Amino acid sequence: MEYTHKNLIHIKTSFTKDLEKLGYKELKEKYLGKKGLVTEALKEITSIPSKEKPIYGKEVNTLKTFVEDNISEKIQENREYASKPKIDPTAPFDINEDSQIYSEMLSLEGSKHALTKEAERLLSIFSSMGFDILESRQIDDDYNMFQSLNFPKGHPARDMYDTFRTEDGLVLPAHTSTMQNRALKKFGPPPIAVVLPGRCFRNEATDAGHEHTFHQIEGVYVDKNVSLSNMIATIKTYLERYLETNLKVKIQPAYFPFTEPDCEFVIGCPFCNMSGCSTCGHSGWIEIMGCGMIHPNVLKEADIDPELYSGFAWGFGVDRLAMIKLGIDDIRYLRESNLNFLRQF
Ligand code: DAH
Repeated sequence: MEYTHKNLIHIKTSFTKDLEKLGYKELKEKYLGKKGLVTEALKEITSIPSKEKPIYGKEVNTLKTFVEDNISEKIQENREYASKPKIDPTAPFDINEDSQIYSEMLSLEGSKHALTKEAERLLSIFSSMGFDILESRQIDDDYNMFQSLNFPKGHPARDMYDTFRTEDGLVLPAHTSTMQNRALKKFGPPPIAVVLPGRCFRNEATDAGHEHTFHQIEGVYVDKNVSLSNMIATIKTYLERYLETNLKVKIQPAYFPFTEPDCEFVIGCPFCNMSGCSTCGHSGWIEIMGCGMIHPNVLKEADIDPELYSGFAWGFGVDRLAMIKLGIDDIRYLRESNLNFLRQF
């Protein structure tokens, strides 16, 4: 009797806990179902000595009523909840009204944003080429944005980057090069092959070609005897795989404090076969990214000996490259969340 009494207390405690966690259907099944705990406890009565049967019977019936009452209450609460008007503060209409736009939205399946899909395509190409992937930060500091990249305080080239700053002196990264020093330290000693995707921000007026928020993928490759021709071959290879066409490429001079030499990577326009169209501004060529051999000061700052190792780096805009691939002529579409636009991809 002692044991069976304890068992009833145990069932009550576990039911009280389950009441918080389980739905009424599960509760019913677990406690009042064919093999439910209360059902089993009721069956026990046959094995109880007849003297103790009345007490046990009373206790087990009290437990049964307790469980049934609580489950009915839960069902009632559920009904009341279901009959209350629903609230969705993000919906641009009243979701309790039978609107056409709501039923249309319910019939749609969500999908990845065009930019996400393109970034994933690019990253899988880099993975297959042996590059590690490390995402950049969306808030950073002056050291990673400038100093570690060979822009000392007061360097005029800092003005090339219209950097947003917080009141505490932190910066919103204006490029993914902010990750170079971290990546060199994290993946070093060489060989190092890593790509650094991330969101970037610039305090610029927006137009068809410029956004204050955009995405870049930085690449960093360091080993012994790395040359500029390795850089050209690597960039050409992944661009051809991404754009799915053979490309004519060239480099032209540029200026970045963190590379030496500094280059602009240029591709022959794949849309007009270089005869001139709106994508290439009728020049036949498209400047696609900044790149170059990593400056010895940048390597030194990450404890890599520039006498022993050399490397290259690049940084390109994912939005720009995706626009070229998908034939989008205004970068602002990529941030607008306009479903008519997004459904095309
Ligand atoms: N961070 C540069 C920009 O956004 C692009 C760039 C140029 C990245 C040269 C590099 C590089 O890694 O080596 O303007």
